[in-house]
Amino acid sequence: MLGCASIAERRMLPSMLAQPRVELVAVASRHAEKAERFARLFGCEAVTGYERLLAREDIDAVYVPLPPSLHAEWVRRALLAGKHVLCEKPFAATLAEAESAVALARDRGLLVMESFMFLHHRQHAEVRRLLDEGLIGEPRGFSADFGIPLLDGGGGHASTLPEVAVYPIRVAEFFLGWELEVLGAYERCDAAGEFAVAGDAMLRAPSGVIAHLRYGLEHGYRAEYTWWGSAGTLTVRRAFSTPDDHAPVLRVECRSGVEDLVLKPDSQFVNIAGFFAEAVLDGGEFRTHADAILRHAELLDRVRVAAQLGG
Ligand SMILES: NC(=O)c1ccc[n+]([C@@H]2O[C@H](COP(=O)([O-])OP(=O)(O)OC[C@H]3O[C@@H](n4cnc5c(N)ncnc54)[C@H](OP(=O)(O)O)[C@@H]3O)[C@@H](O)[C@H]2O)c1
Repeated sequence: MLGCASIAERRMLPSMLAQPRVELVAVASRHAEKAERFARLFGCEAVTGYERLLAREDIDAVYVPLPPSLHAEWVRRALLAGKHVLCEKPFAATLAEAESAVALARDRGLLVMESFMFLHHRQHAEVRRLLDEGLIGEPRGFSADFGIPLLDGGGGHASTLPEVAVYPIRVAEFFLGWELEVLGAYERCDAAGEFAVAGDAMLRAPSGVIAHLRYGLEHGYRAEYTWWGSAGTLTVRRAFSTPDDHAPVLRVECRSGVEDLVLKPDSQFVNIAGFFAEAVLDGGEFRTHADAILRHAELLDRVRVAAQLGG
């Protein structure tokens, strides 16, 4: 792993330890003490400096949970060092950056995957199954929201807007496919006009379904989506950063009443770690994951342009 990040400490590294197909060899930090703290916590080696870790020959793949502005540079360096890469979202700041990393990975025969853990929680496949069964009739509309509050004590923003925007946009792609038209998008900046803090996007699928997506950095916590059909609605709360012990509740509201379908907990982080390892170890299909990075980056670019144009 490159960078002793909070998400790695809280979710990814404990999950890698629980995933039998992954062996955590070493963690790298810019600071020796930090790497050592992580190494003690997770029973692996500490390395000072990311380049040193990449130079090691006993490492097949790296997990990159660096701040988004550093993803492109360190994904490139990892690929040049011959490592497969699981990179945190957003994989790249622009489509051009994503294209350049994917081209390098393809050239070297290496796997690059964007770490959308939530896609590996089985609750979404279950929603898809229920929709296909016609539980809420014909799908008419979709909405998804992800927002997080400001840090406590006036500490500012915990993330950048793209880091939260990618969740509603990626879940729309999951359900509605890649061929999404951007009907409009809007971004609101902070009072100084420098930092984007909230956004909305409206997308249209070839089926005619419209997706309304909202995201923000100064909001009460919200991570949910709703499918609206001709016969009712289906809502999933805790849709994105779902805790391992959370039993998901799919709320179905139809003319006959309200029903909560409770699912078994699932660990999306353990699942994605296994999924990534399987692709590397069993010679999985690398192209699908690289294509997903490109299609997603391309849509993010179109949403960004629409927002710059003012909707
Ligand atoms: N998939 C998910 O569920 C999920 C959830 C939260 C966050 N994320 C994503 O994961 C990534 C990391 O997020 P995080 O909140 O965990 O970040 P974080 O705690 O700030 O960690 C980022 C790490 O990057 C390293 N780093 C290198 N240069 C840095 C610099 N100039 N400034 C700050 N850090 C630097 C630091 O490690 P060293 O000091 O050890 O070098 C730092 O600990 C982001 O892309 C974020 O969007 C994903």
